[in-house]
Amino acid sequence: MANARREQWSTSFGFVAAAVGSAVGLGNMWRFSYLTAEKGGAAFVALYLVFTLLVGLPILLAEMTVGRGASRSPILALEHYGGRNWRLLGGLFVLTGFLILSYYSVIAGWTLRYAGELIWHGVPANPGDHFSQVSQGWNAFLFHVGFMVLTMGIVAGGVTRGIERVSVVAMPALFIFVCGLALYAATLPGSEAGYAYYLNANFANAFSMDVVVSAAGQSFFSLSLGMGAMLTFASYLSRQSDLPREAIRIAAADFGVAFLAGLMVFPIVFALGVEGDVSESTLGALFVALPEAFASMGLGGRFVGIIFFLALIVGALTSAISLLEVVVSAVVDGWAWSRVRSVAVAGGLITLMGSLAAWDLNLLDAMDQIANNILLLLGALLLSIFVGWVMKEAPEELQEGAGPLSWAGAWRFLLRWWVPLVLLFVLFHSVPTTIVNVRSLVFG
Ligand code: PFF
Repeated sequence: MANARREQWSTSFGFVAAAVGSAVGLGNMWRFSYLTAEKGGAAFVALYLVFTLLVGLPILLAEMTVGRGASRSPILALEHYGGRNWRLLGGLFVLTGFLILSYYSVIAGWTLRYAGELIWHGVPANPGDHFSQVSQGWNAFLFHVGFMVLTMGIVAGGVTRGIERVSVVAMPALFIFVCGLALYAATLPGSEAGYAYYLNANFANAFSMDVVVSAAGQSFFSLSLGMGAMLTFASYLSRQSDLPREAIRIAAADFGVAFLAGLMVFPIVFALGVEGDVSESTLGALFVALPEAFASMGLGGRFVGIIFFLALIVGALTSAISLLEVVVSAVVDGWAWSRVRSVAVAGGLITLMGSLAAWDLNLLDAMDQIANNILLLLGALLLSIFVGWVMKEAPEELQEGAGPLSWAGAWRFLLRWWVPLVLLFVLFHSVPTTIVNVRSLVFG
């Protein structure tokens, strides 16, 4: 019953590149490094890995199974397997995508600006002051608009001619940039302190609820789960594709890039003695500490900085594409609008909403916390219940294209009991703290 005219990825690599493009982004470099610094180094990394394996992977498979099975965008896919009421969950996905892209694009705008400045002028004299000037207000707004226009241009091109074409080039390039930077960081005298900080776990810290909640939120954000992005991308897959194989590739690449980003950020920051800026971690830590480090490396630092911000831009762009695609595919399928018209209207509204985040850094922080510590967890919880309890055909659909899987039943069992219980527990702690945090960010 799948829509016969629906586009499909032209190759299996095209899908993996686009899905890895969605997963790998600012989350792996900016968010992962600043959270690792804020939440105490390696213990946070270990918890994040545990969540990725035991909760993230089953949900990634669940999203892919629903998406490919229904060959529809999120709202219609959930209705297809679960009836009208489940449309609401699809609606939650679309709203979450809308919210995340609106502030994500502001941060991506900062990276555009930083790359441009490094190319034309070099490193700013006082990175701290510079960041506070350019991260809010008109400056931030203009680059946010620029980034949104770029994203909209690619999504308007369609699944194969827009998204796939960009991803198959962008992802290998990003991988080379990040490997190169991590290798370069290893050559800096004094980098050992960075590795020690990053890789020596302090488990006393790991078990605070705050760290657990952040690690859970980060694992969903980083894998683009809980808002239908992977569901939407999988809806353009053919029935011959092997979902478990692709899911493992996606999760491995996502964790690999985050880990490599840590191997580049911490050694650089410690070798150049600017770790103080990172440990008082805020949203802007990387945008202050790294330019300081680049400044003290002379001309080479400028070059390294350009590569670093280019990697961030590439990652951010391929992730933003997937966020916009969730909203656009819902509009195209739901209202039968043309793709170009849907991109213009959805992208325009997201740009407007993002201008709030561009105006005030506290609002941006509040939006990030609401999205990650509540909405993504809630979306993942409901999706897990959906596939575990409602979608009877899930185990067969998972095996379609992959052949018989001895663990298909165990996977559904995880989605029925384990994943929802873990998520309920995390939400139970994250909702009250997030409300308190957001209130103090917004109302001072
Ligand atoms: N996974 C992206 C990152 O790590 O930067 C962010 C993201 C993209 C989240 C797409 C959610 C999403 F649907």
